[in-house]
Amino acid sequence: MTSTERPAEASGQFAIGGDLTVNRLGYGAMQLTGKGVWGEPSDPEEAVRVLRRAVELGVNFIDTADSYGPFVSELLIKKALHPYPEDLVIATKAGLTRSGPDDWRPVGRPEYLRQQAELSLRHLGVERIDLFQLHRIDAKVPLADQVGELALLQQEGKIRHIGLSEVSVEQVEAAGEFARIVSVQNLYNLAHRDAEPLLEYSEANGIGFIPWFPLATGKLAEEGGPLAEAARAHGATPSQLALAWLLKRSPVMLPIPGTSKVAHLEDNVAAAGVQLTDDEFAALSKGA
Ligand SMILES: NC(=O)c1ccc[n+]([C@@H]2O[C@H](COP(=O)([O-])OP(=O)(O)OC[C@H]3O[C@@H](n4cnc5c(N)ncnc54)[C@H](OP(=O)(O)O)[C@@H]3O)[C@@H](O)[C@H]2O)c1
Repeated sequence: MTSTERPAEASGQFAIGGDLTVNRLGYGAMQLTGKGVWGEPSDPEEAVRVLRRAVELGVNFIDTADSYGPFVSELLIKKALHPYPEDLVIATKAGLTRSGPDDWRPVGRPEYLRQQAELSLRHLGVERIDLFQLHRIDAKVPLADQVGELALLQQEGKIRHIGLSEVSVEQVEAAGEFARIVSVQNLYNLAHRDAEPLLEYSEANGIGFIPWFPLATGKLAEEGGPLAEAARAHGATPSQLALAWLLKRSPVMLPIPGTSKVAHLEDNVAAAGVQLTDDEFAALSKGA
């Protein structure tokens, strides 16, 4: 199959943990739930179509979490894609409990993380989770207990690799005392770059950097703004340019734009083929 038929391949590849090679432009499955990331989506058939189309377009890295729904996103992935293509890598997370729409509360007690890993195995229909991410570090629980439990699950063969989410460089280093950390997932996009030190640390250490909310561009995308101008020059949208900027920013960057609509998915994956020149990249970086 050509890369035109599988456009996600044009984003380049990265080996998560050194052995799970994915096309760098992935898909985030948080938008496949009801409002407030709670309950069933308004159009479940479209959600299934989005997941199947993503794989057709060459996306082979999908990010989800037990807490999206909860369970709704994982169950939709199983419904749409199981039995899974051999090259598909599914990353899930645990460590945030849900008490209602838009309500997220960290719980990192080892017995809870273990329960959620077991539930994700069942909901995704897999014998081993490719990448299991601690959704948030729980300040009330010793880090050794949280990451240590994930290391135990790994030794038992229930998870392959371990990642973290919303962390500092210091926290990644501290967690590294108890397990090998292969990925981090923080808020990062053209307009929000507080996680820059973490990105640099990830690049230096071969850790996959998964920027969430990758499409947010704020004022940059406004008419007459730097992103809108560059987008016009490329015959692309500001969102596509924002993704192309992320992909060019670092070889360890694994953007996972989320959407509930096939048309938006197709637009987002097409960004893998948008190549920014060094000058354009520098101008966009400065304009933010
Ligand atoms: N680790 C964490 O704490 C954390 C937190 C948040 C998210 N995440 C992960 O990161 C993924 C991405 O983040 P996100 O979903 O918050 O943000 P995002 O991917 O930057 O943006 C998603 C939003 O943009 C819209 N959208 C997507 N493509 C579009 C397009 N081509 N044109 C117009 N609108 C478009 C979506 O609405 P439509 O559905 O209408 O397209 C949705 O409202 C999530 O799915 C999740 O897997 C992780």
